[in-house]
Amino acid sequence: MRASLFALPLCLALAAMVPSAVKAAEMNVMADACGGCHGTDGQSVGAMPSFIGKDAATLEKFLVEYKTGKREATVMDRITKGYSDEQLKAISAFYASRAKK
Ligand code: HEC
Repeated sequence: MRASLFALPLCLALAAMVPSAVKAAEMNVMADACGGCHGTDGQSVGAMPSFIGKDAATLEKFLVEYKTGKREATVMDRITKGYSDEQLKAISAFYASRAKK
């Protein structure tokens, strides 16, 4: 009980410190979560679908559709629910820029 009295203001303080824009370090962590299945550039190994070369708008559309259940999925529906729309946008831009090299 006593611990939770301290935890609440701490959580509120931490939440207020998180900036709305997605930072570069956070971006790497988010993209790492995809790389295990889709490769570091979106070029998958094995049976996972590749999305290398797709533009940011297309990737974002796919991810948002997975999140909302509009696009049929086995795992991507669950994965995308873990990200905010802003984060999905940032991930899409990240992979689109990686593929241009
Ligand atoms: C556990 C493995 C796994 C992880 C982790 C994963 N994916 Fe997927 N991804 C899949 C599978 C499988 C599909 C095919 C749709 C389905 O069955 O869910 C897919 C489909 C996609 C597609 C659509 C490709 C196309 O052209 O149809 C995109 C885009 C995508 N994933 C992006 C991501 C991003 C971005 C992340 C990280 C946030 C991610 N995936 C994490 C397995 C994974």
